[in-house]
Amino acid sequence: KLLQMNSLNKKDLHNKGVCRLMEPIIEFKNITKSYGDNVVVKDLNLTIDKGAFITIIGSSGCGKTTTLKMINRLITPDSGEILIDGKNIENRDVIKLRRNIGYSIQGNVLFPHLTVRDNIAYVPELSEKIDKKELDNDVRELMKIVNLDEKYIDYFPHELSGGQAQRVGLARALASKPRIMLLDEPFGAVDAITRTQLQKEIKRIHKESNITFIFVTHDINEAVSLGDKVIIMEDGQIDQYDTPEKIVNEPATEFAKTLIGDKSIIKI
Ligand SMILES: Nc1ncnc2c1ncn2[C@@H]1O[C@H](COP(=O)(O)OP(=O)(O)OP(=O)(O)O)[C@@H](O)[C@H]1O
Ligand SMILES: [Mg+2]
Repeated sequence: KLLQMNSLNKKDLHNKGVCRLMEPIIEFKNITKSYGDNVVVKDLNLTIDKGAFITIIGSSGCGKTTTLKMINRLITPDSGEILIDGKNIENRDVIKLRRNIGYSIQGNVLFPHLTVRDNIAYVPELSEKIDKKELDNDVRELMKIVNLDEKYIDYFPHELSGGQAQRVGLARALASKPRIMLLDEPFGAVDAITRTQLQKEIKRIHKESNITFIFVTHDINEAVSLGDKVIIMEDGQIDQYDTPEKIVNEPATEFAKTLIGDKSIIKI
């Protein structure tokens, strides 16, 4: 039910097939961002299609988080334009813009004074016409989606493990029924089994919704298995933006080659 708002209509389903129409949702046009002498994003050009699942991988400090944060205007670029649905985000109301964009922060920062329920319900509760009962059901459904037992609903963040807190962060990002999800290493602190489960859930959510995902990871296997396109970033620039098959079989740069390593052990 939660995903219904974003669920695919027949036409979209048709488009998901062979003759899917590509329509951009996010466009970076010559985006540059520096801190002092440190140019962290360099003349970045990027088009992301509606409904895509994009993964971003690259060395620590190469500009991944900065790139994500420019999409919901937590960071302002020095030059260039970012368009969402063809419109420059600079001129948009920032609150309205962020309502459409779910963001799961790297390291996962929950509101410490709020319970799991209130953390997840935070954004929906900002809207005036909200049915308490319905919201409670939504929270429970989201907890199910991220594999978190209902018994934690009244827990506070300090009573959760790192992986549990991260799942609450993911549920909170999904709660606003966003059109775009920015996930910054969302599975960094979870064990391998939970991680595999969550990857499956994320894939399912993507399949059943119309949400565009942008997902940062340090794990090449995760990048190629989740993404329908992968961005390899190096020093604030894109080395390669391609399908997982191309990334694995035809890495474009030395860095991409190093990242792939032995391709026989990579599962797409
Ligand atoms: N507020 C800031 N002031 C100065 N430098 C900054 C600031 N924020 C980020 N940087 C620098 O920008 C560069 C890119 O940072 P960013 O957080 O985008 O990296 P990242 O690719 O997400 O790395 P990681 O994989 O470690 O999360 C880094 O060199 C960082 O030191
Ligand atoms: Mg980062």
